[in-house]
Amino acid sequence: MSLMHTDLGQGPVVVLLHGFPLNRSMWAGQLTTLGKICRVIVPDLRGYGENPPLDPVPEPYADGPAALTVEDLAGDVLALLDDLGVSEPVVVGGLSMGGYVAMALASIAPERVRALMLFDTRAEGDTPEAAQRRESQAKAVLETGSAQSLVTAMLPMLLCPSTLKEQPDLTRIVQQMMEAARPTTVAATLRGLARRPDRSAMLRELARPTLVVVGQEDAITPPSVAQTLAQLIPGSNLIFIASAGHLAPLEQPEAVNTAILEFLARVVHIN
Ligand code: MLT
Repeated sequence: MSLMHTDLGQGPVVVLLHGFPLNRSMWAGQLTTLGKICRVIVPDLRGYGENPPLDPVPEPYADGPAALTVEDLAGDVLALLDDLGVSEPVVVGGLSMGGYVAMALASIAPERVRALMLFDTRAEGDTPEAAQRRESQAKAVLETGSAQSLVTAMLPMLLCPSTLKEQPDLTRIVQQMMEAARPTTVAATLRGLARRPDRSAMLRELARPTLVVVGQEDAITPPSVAQTLAQLIPGSNLIFIASAGHLAPLEQPEAVNTAILEFLARVVHIN
């Protein structure tokens, strides 16, 4: 079954992929702007947002669900594009986990990718310590049947201090988005994220026009990580967003939209 999605506007296709453990509503600040100049397709990834729970959940699962890998998620996005009759190469954008999925998609089907937009993300896989931490988090989520402890720990990491202080409505929206994620999806995703490969070599070879965007106060994928990512890709554009943390498109939508519009106009000739 196809992913639930928003499909807005006409013209060249731009796909936007959400971060963990969010859903497609995180791109609300980009939809109207992009919908005026291109066809913007924004799915909920498998198990998230308006999609049904993961199916089948292995029963009984003493150790929880199997990993939901970034390749699984990328395959779903390719299937959605097929269902929508989109066969031409598209601009694929993703934030953090969405960036990992965009890179997985580029690895599986480079011919479907016209350009990449990578927001607050990284090319490398998890360190063994990070993978171990994710497994502990997955176990805790499954044991308690709730992702609440993860949400509580993650929220102050996702948004920068000024967002937390000055944008209480946005903070609440992000918290609610995370709380809406199902525990089994969260646990399966944590296991999938822990086993994602390093995409550095793939990105170097792919050599597509690429926009790299990072919040200047991103605590999860800091500017130095974005710099490393941008350096892998010849001719990439690196944009730092002031007063933004890990969720730059939500925290500073106008600055991020300006970066996207300049990139699309210059590199992909969408304007
Ligand atoms: C995300 O925002 O998608 C996550 O922070 C990704 C990750 O944990 O690596």
